[in-house]
Amino acid sequence: MAEPNRRSAAVPNDLEAFWVPFTPNRAFKRAPRLIARAKDMHYYTPEGRAVLDGTAGLWCTNAGHNREPIVAAIQRQAAELDYAPAFQFAHPKSFELASRIAALAPGDLDRVFFCNSGSEAVDTALKIALAYHNVRGQASRTRLIGRERGYHGVGFGGISVGGIVANRKHFGTLLAGVDHLPATYNREHQAFTKGEPDWGAHLADDLERIVALHDASTVAAVIVEPMAGSTGVLPPPKGYLERLRAICDRHGILLIFDEVITGFGRLGHAFAAERYGVTPDMITFAKGITSGAVPMGGVIAREGIYDAFMRGPEHVAELFHGYTYSAHPLACAAGLATLDLYRDEKLFERAKKLEPLWADAAMALKSVPGVLDIRTVGLTAGIDLASRPDAFGKRAYEAMERGFHDEGVMIRITGETLALTPPLIVSEAQIGEIFDKVARVIKAVM
Ligand SMILES: Cc1ncc(COP(=O)(O)O)c(C=O)c1O
Repeated sequence: MAEPNRRSAAVPNDLEAFWVPFTPNRAFKRAPRLIARAKDMHYYTPEGRAVLDGTAGLWCTNAGHNREPIVAAIQRQAAELDYAPAFQFAHPKSFELASRIAALAPGDLDRVFFCNSGSEAVDTALKIALAYHNVRGQASRTRLIGRERGYHGVGFGGISVGGIVANRKHFGTLLAGVDHLPATYNREHQAFTKGEPDWGAHLADDLERIVALHDASTVAAVIVEPMAGSTGVLPPPKGYLERLRAICDRHGILLIFDEVITGFGRLGHAFAAERYGVTPDMITFAKGITSGAVPMGGVIAREGIYDAFMRGPEHVAELFHGYTYSAHPLACAAGLATLDLYRDEKLFERAKKLEPLWADAAMALKSVPGVLDIRTVGLTAGIDLASRPDAFGKRAYEAMERGFHDEGVMIRITGETLALTPPLIVSEAQIGEIFDKVARVIKAVM
């Protein structure tokens, strides 16, 4: 007898149960954008239609999709050790991966705490910052400072220091004692800049104002994305990060770079900290560490931060924090294989080499009607579109839909901005293809 409720494994016939994150569910379920498989630079729909990945998934598949060495490493690991307790025990690959990450990170950023996402990484870094001051006898340092237009994931810590109104307004009072620096973007002074804009370093000085208001003895940490990705690709003004570092140093405040997007090659270096020559006290990472293949995130802390905790009775944990899946064996295996690929294929260097060509290709859209600004940095571009009257974000939404259904290109959107950030294996021809498709999409939605 027929089983009416049986679902096909390949194509779902009931879309109701799954509450799709950060997605307008009703519109999506009327016209779903389904992806069934992927390889290298392309997705394939269940019908087999190819879609060029202009966004490295969600800024994460930096080595491209379904790369054979990563797939094989995950398969081998699943057969050998599926799980080991993350507390009080450990498996060898977690140490190996931590050492590899520490070797890539600048300066004495040498201690790695693993978690499973960028949001967890951010909350972990904020907690380490608070606890660090506490164990050093400076428990009054509790204030956290983020930035307007910052995105630090969706945990309560992350949305508190984050600066995206929609991510905050429905969720109560958030963490107490948080201040925000002003956003670094100003269209009047920065429009159509390739790389870091000349204008805006002085915006870092607002930190002095905040410190003066509360007194340095109450401030624990400042967290910023070196390049704000999720609010539309906002590279730091020249000199801005150096100023933040200097002010933090002056007042004993920890500086955290949220490198969940900028880590692992996006800006042509292992970390943006290296590109900008500014060493923070902690770096958060996720996404590119496994090229998106297995969830993983983490915090890289300076040695001195770790050392400050190494006191007290030796049978007692020094930091009461961790996740069941911290340093999960599958994630570690994927991470090691991914770092090998980045090294062997010189993908960070590749991103750096392609940056001028990428920037030129993006800026060629300057004359397309309705384009208000284009920003580029590393292998990343943000394109601001003019809004429809009374429907902010609708034009970009339609561009994303049209890109997927009609042009076969994956575009990420935020507000009225199209964000493009392909896997670092993108070819020169594919860069041309991405921007040709995007130009046609923009013309079609104007
Ligand atoms: C800078 C930054 N921090 C944190 C996050 C949150 O990462 P996740 O979605 O893995 O929690 C993101 C995600 O885009 C991000 O861009």
